[in-house]
Amino acid sequence: MTGAHQESNGRIRLRLEPPGQGSARHYIPPVDDAGGRFEAWRVHDDGFVPKERYLSPEFLGLEHERLWSRVWQIACREEEVATPGDVVEHSIGDESVLVTRDLDGGIRAFHNVCLHRGARLVDGCTHAGADGTLRCPFHAWRYALDGRCVEVVDAEDFPGLGPGSAGRADLRIPPVRAEAWAGFVFVNLDPDAEPLADFLDPLPALLAPFHLEQMRLRAVLSTELPGNWKAAVDAFNEAYHVQGGHAQVLGIVDDVSIRYEVLGRHAHYGRLPGARRVLRPSPRLGIADADIDEGAILTGMVAGLGGAFLREEREMVAELVAAGPPPGTTLLEAYQERRRAFLAARGLDVTGLTLDQMTSVEDLYLFPNVVGPIYPGSAILFRARPVPGDPNRCFHDTWVLEWPDPAAAPKPVTRRTFSDWRDHDWGELTTQDYENIERVQRGMRSSGSRGLRLNPRQEINLWHMHRGIDEYLFAHDPMEPA
Ligand code: FES
Ligand SMILES: [Fe+2]
Repeated sequence: MTGAHQESNGRIRLRLEPPGQGSARHYIPPVDDAGGRFEAWRVHDDGFVPKERYLSPEFLGLEHERLWSRVWQIACREEEVATPGDVVEHSIGDESVLVTRDLDGGIRAFHNVCLHRGARLVDGCTHAGADGTLRCPFHAWRYALDGRCVEVVDAEDFPGLGPGSAGRADLRIPPVRAEAWAGFVFVNLDPDAEPLADFLDPLPALLAPFHLEQMRLRAVLSTELPGNWKAAVDAFNEAYHVQGGHAQVLGIVDDVSIRYEVLGRHAHYGRLPGARRVLRPSPRLGIADADIDEGAILTGMVAGLGGAFLREEREMVAELVAAGPPPGTTLLEAYQERRRAFLAARGLDVTGLTLDQMTSVEDLYLFPNVVGPIYPGSAILFRARPVPGDPNRCFHDTWVLEWPDPAAAPKPVTRRTFSDWRDHDWGELTTQDYENIERVQRGMRSSGSRGLRLNPRQEINLWHMHRGIDEYLFAHDPMEPA
């Protein structure tokens, strides 16, 4: 498959192969490509992205037909279906899937559709009735938690469905594949899709030390954003915009020493091995070394990144800054050591994490539509999904995950939905990101815009997403070499 490699000098070397090679799994009939439009909408090898990929209803339709119908996608957390009878709805376009915890403890998934007249069975989250079944709200047919129909009201009126008739045994809602990793339940509408482990590779090995499976959902905040779902992913998938979009943090963030790396279909970025790791402001500010106050930077970092650091750590930093680091260590190293001991004392397994990972973020991109930072003991993930029929909008969910303190009572999950994203205070940084999503979506609609011209080093994760999407959209296209 297509890949990219970051060399020691920081340059990205792209490995370009025709989309489809090595990734196609089964034949897709040719699309009706009147006028060659779809061909013109492919992402270019030089990083140019035609804007129609963000604006065209036809492109949105192609994504539904070929991407969302075949890709593994996160539906929910395992703890949302913790108890037999729990049900969560996952919707993508016109498709709706129910994820259930069956009475035998297994996780199942099937289409959210009644076999009678096609009504949706469930809206959102629910729990099965006391008899362990789901009842259609329209004419009250009942279904087991694996999708088997267990009651047809007045069955004797239906040819072949009366008591004892053979047709009853086949009455089952079509299943959907569901597999779990790291506490996330993934679903795939394609019965022939590759196993989830192959799709995710190499993320499970990379992220194992963070123990995402031990984290628990603390909050789900959902809204709609005025941008294509890909624009919402893009906004969190690079640090190139920090100097323009979040200039207020440059005094405490070295936004230049960031590395990007593609990982199979996925990607990540941050202070990866090879990136400079010292307490420095952005080199863009041109502050002389003698004028740099490492203590102020560390204090600002721990106070400003609320998702990553716990309140108690601010006192720890204040003490350390006042006393100075022990001889032979830097302030950053001393804090990393203290942080590791602090998290370990709270019961967090930090044995697989390096000292540098105590203060650096693992900014993950999970193809196609989840992106966000993972820290020791917590994570914030953003999921974007298309709004059916409207390429200019997307559904946007923020999942806050935390390692649960075993000494404290389990905390309830906060669930809130904001129909207008401006009805909630998302914090300064995220508000700036959301404003930029709207800004690019509106700007691209201008006749003066042809598309996106991506930075091949700092926006390689965005380019990689588009290449991945094209593999789903055009793989095994008869026009391409197979
Ligand atoms: S549509 Fe479900 S029972 Fe009629
Ligand atoms: Fe941002």
